[in-house]
Amino acid sequence: MSQTIVIFGASGDLTSRKLIPALYQLFRKGRFDAPPRIVGFSRSPFSHDEWRDKLAATTAQFAGEKFDAATWDEFAKHIYYHAGDVGKRDDFQSLSQFLDGIEGNDSSDDDNNDGRLYYLSMAPRFYKSAIEHLGQSGLAEEGHCCRRIIIEKPFGTDLASSRELNRQIHKVFNEHQVYRIDHYLGKETVQNLMVLRFANTIFEPIWNRNYIDHVQITVAEEVEVGSRAGYYDSAGVIRDMIQNHLLQLLMVTAMEAPVRYEADSIRNEKVKVLQAIEPLDAKQVQADTFRGQYRGYTASEGVEPTSRTATFAGVKLSIDNWRWQGVPFYLRSGKGMSCRTTQIVIQFHAPPHKLFEDSPSDLGESNRLVIQVQPAEGIQIHFQTKVPDAGMKMRQTDLGFNYQKEFRGSMPEAYERLLLDALEGDASLFARADEVEAAWQICDPILDAWQSSDRPTLFMYDPGFWGPDECREWMLEQGREWFDTCPVLG
Ligand code: BG6
Repeated sequence: MSQTIVIFGASGDLTSRKLIPALYQLFRKGRFDAPPRIVGFSRSPFSHDEWRDKLAATTAQFAGEKFDAATWDEFAKHIYYHAGDVGKRDDFQSLSQFLDGIEGNDSSDDDNNDGRLYYLSMAPRFYKSAIEHLGQSGLAEEGHCCRRIIIEKPFGTDLASSRELNRQIHKVFNEHQVYRIDHYLGKETVQNLMVLRFANTIFEPIWNRNYIDHVQITVAEEVEVGSRAGYYDSAGVIRDMIQNHLLQLLMVTAMEAPVRYEADSIRNEKVKVLQAIEPLDAKQVQADTFRGQYRGYTASEGVEPTSRTATFAGVKLSIDNWRWQGVPFYLRSGKGMSCRTTQIVIQFHAPPHKLFEDSPSDLGESNRLVIQVQPAEGIQIHFQTKVPDAGMKMRQTDLGFNYQKEFRGSMPEAYERLLLDALEGDASLFARADEVEAAWQICDPILDAWQSSDRPTLFMYDPGFWGPDECREWMLEQGREWFDTCPVLG
């Protein structure tokens, strides 16, 4: 039985840059039992062949040397295009007939043997009408097989709008049909974090307040906002990165072991982490959050010259449970930073007794586990070693694991794993309704306080460094230091 993927917003950037290349890679690697039909839906009037040709060119560009024309030709036989407008109900009726036609169904037969996956790959303002029309045209009804929907971020712009979006979705789809995507969960290294924690025994005994001083989660991007400035100026770093990607990394780092490796068990544990985070009040937002904007941001096309949108955030959160009481989690993300790096640093306590004159006394010299999520995917443990032939002098050294050295070959794109999982009905790596809402519950008070009259200062920083200097000082005042190291590639 093969399935059908319908991509709404097919002429958009995400489709050509990520979705089609990911599906092509899955096809090339033989990951489909039966390759899915891929139907593009958007207003532009393409014939099937025109759309295939357009995608061939973009996939060749994004897949690079992995693009093979003969394989593409085989893959392209599964690609179709159907022009339509998500705002028009009639266009969904004609889509329904078109799908029945290519799936070889008699439209009077509502047994729905072939599964369908609807992918909303368009601006969020169109979600509501797309969902309603899918419902009204019967496209969401499950017969023998499944009707699933993937929804891209941003999932709402605050708690109220995310609740409203969940309400609209649930009028048409049951929760088990809904796949809210956060592409960070599709990254190999993020999945490996669960393996590191729950398939090994040596980390669990020390993964708590008794051994850990604090955790740092950094997603730094060297790029500036570029052509996305218009969107970015209304979103800012909290909505764009913290509410989703960084909180996902925090959940996977802090969660308890699920009872089973299965979607709801995993998501139950993740949600409990967010529930244990007390939302910050206005005073705490002043003390525990940090706003920055890189110099030159307001000169970007699409940005108001007076814009106060934050392109950098530092946020200190506390998880009020047995494991993490008193262990701050520092989240930091910014554009225009020193380099591209996503890393999770587990900083262990300094040794309790200074036996050697040279023993580490500050945290910077103490044990640290660094999980390099990207781009130099790997894990390092930092520890003190005696320098040979130098009395009891010591130096910090590390044990390292590097994906490239160990497994060779390039890392798969996150979308490959996520698309395959959604086709197979595995929602483990997708956000549940309550999870998204709980994340907004943490971010809303920050966003509100940042809008208020006594908002924290917006510190300016030069692109190419680690954000505002004041953020470094803020950490130093707490006796801690950001781990500002660019990964070594190659
Ligand atoms: C997106 C954000 O969700 O993630 C972008 O909207 C950001 O602003 C991107 O650049 C980062 O993703 P990655 O996979 O390149 O780290």
